[in-house]
Formats: sequence, structure tokens, C-alpha cells
Amino acid sequence: MNSARRAFAKALAAIDVVIEVTDARLPGASSNPMIEELRHFRNRPCLKLLNKADLADPKATREWIAYYNAQPGVRAIAISAKHPADVERIPVLSRQLAPHRSGAEKPLRMALAGIPNVGKSTLMNALLKRRVAKVGDEPAVTKSQQTLDLGPGMTLTDTPGLMWPKIEHDADGFMLAASHAIGRNAVIDEEVAVNLGSILLARYPAFIEVRYRIDVTGLDGEGLLERIAHRRGCIRKGGGLDLEKAANVFLVDYRSGTLGRITLEVPESRQQMLAAAESVPDVLS
Ligand code: G4P
Repeated sequence: MNSARRAFAKALAAIDVVIEVTDARLPGASSNPMIEELRHFRNRPCLKLLNKADLADPKATREWIAYYNAQPGVRAIAISAKHPADVERIPVLSRQLAPHRSGAEKPLRMALAGIPNVGKSTLMNALLKRRVAKVGDEPAVTKSQQTLDLGPGMTLTDTPGLMWPKIEHDADGFMLAASHAIGRNAVIDEEVAVNLGSILLARYPAFIEVRYRIDVTGLDGEGLLERIAHRRGCIRKGGGLDLEKAANVFLVDYRSGTLGRITLEVPESRQQMLAAAESVPDVLS
């Protein structure tokens, strides 16, 4: 058990509702399985927040919300932690998940959890309506656990960024890196961009065509990166394409939402990915 897991397991003993923050652009990949496992173990309901919904594809977000809301003990909503009206819904919905907790004697105790960079600090600041947490785009800014009063009869415990020790599926690693949940040095930008390119060519080809004014017919992720390099004049000093620079252009365009509102996975594609991963050992044996 690593220290983040131990701290979270301990905190859950005195928690009524787990508020899990995920990234709406990749809700499955940005969800830490440990949160699900430990909240089941303690039998705690979960308010699942698909944050950064302003960057995600609204249709895909609706699919995810329906998918999660069909699960027992789960209430899912899409929010943008930067929109106060979205944030105001959180205490109300949390109360509905633990109606037995009310009044000063039995305050509603909530825990905020999620992997780094999904927007926990931003949300925390918005919930408290003042700056208490440092917000930054580098993972793992929130370091230690703190419990704060959230108004009469309500407390909120912030848990340190929970990143699982080993990312089980390569596809998740690439999606997380593209969305900047994994630090800059952990993976090679070029590889991440090629992977992102393959997903976007399949799911949002028109966004690519409009942004880079290219015809995507017949392109794969690598071909796309080369075309972006050509288009944007990413050329090395001695000649030849600067694919690293092109990767950076592409990743920044995706992360900032410049390409459009994009979601990298939907419930169906995730199920397919997981089923394919499970079937690999059978094929090999
Ligand atoms: P963390 O505590 O979970 O690690 O995440 P944090 O709040 O630090 O947020 C990580 C980045 O995500 C920040 O960006 C933050 O502004 C951004 N963010 C959080 N919530 C939302 C949201 O709902 N929509 C959008 N579009 N972005 C969100 P940053 O690069 O540090 O930029 P800045 O916006 O603070 O300048």
C-alpha cells in the first residue's frame, strides 16, 4: 500500500461522500481505480464530477453521464470548475447522497479525490470561494491532506493527488499524457502526439482539417504529424522536419481546446479497449 492509498483509505473511514474529479475528455482513463475500490470497500456513495466539460465533446459527455448514473451509489455530473454555477451544485448533490448526515452534530463529510491535474485545486478554491490551494498545470501540486469547513454542517477533506503506481493500459498513458495529467518528462511528446493524432483522425477528422487546412484522407498518426510540421514550418536547422516542435504545436492546440471540444474515449470505446486488453493473454497462451 503506498502512502497516498493509505492516507485515502484512512480518510474514508470518516467520510460520507466521495467526490471524485475526473477529466471529462477522458473520464475512464482519468479515474483512479483505487478510489472506486476503496469507496466500495467502505460502502461510500460517489459524486462523480466530469470536470473541464467546457473542453469536452458535449455528446460524449452525455454518454458518460448516463453510463455512470446507471451505477449504484453513483451520481455523475459534468462541470467546469471555473463556472461558479456548476460548482454550487456540488454541496446540494452531496447532501442528497448522504441524507442521514445533517446538522452540526452530524456534519456532511466529503472527500475530494482524483488524479493530478483534473482540476481539484481549482474546484477547491471555487468551493471555498477563496484561494487556498495552489493551481498549476504541472501534476501533483496538492501535497498534503487538509479538512476545511465548507459552511454550516459540511466539511471537505482534500486528498493528495492519487496517481496509480503503474498505468495498466498504454492507451490510458497516452491519453493522460496528451491531456497533461502525466508530467512533461514522463513520456515523449512525439509519441503522445502520434497517438493523439490516431484518435482524432478516427473521431474528429473535420477538426484537424479545419485547424491545419489539410486533407486527412489516408493519413495515420505519424503522417498527420509530418503534415502539421510542413504546414507550420517546423523544420530543423540543418533541414528535415522538426517533429518534436510539431508535436508541441499539436498538443498545445488540443490541450487549450483550440482544435475544438474533444473527448478521447466514450463508454463503448473504453469497454472495447478493456476487452481487447483482457483477451491478449488468451491469445498468447
Ligand atoms: P489539480 O489540483 O487536480 O492538480 O488541478 P488544478 O486545479 O491545478 O488544475 C489543473 C489545470 O486545469 C489548471 O490549468 C486549471 O486552470 C485547469 N482547469 C481546472 N478546471 C478546469 C475547467 O473546468 N476547465 C478548464 N478549461 N480548465 C480547468 P493551468 O494550465 O494551470 O492554467 P490556468 O487556467 O490556471 O492559467
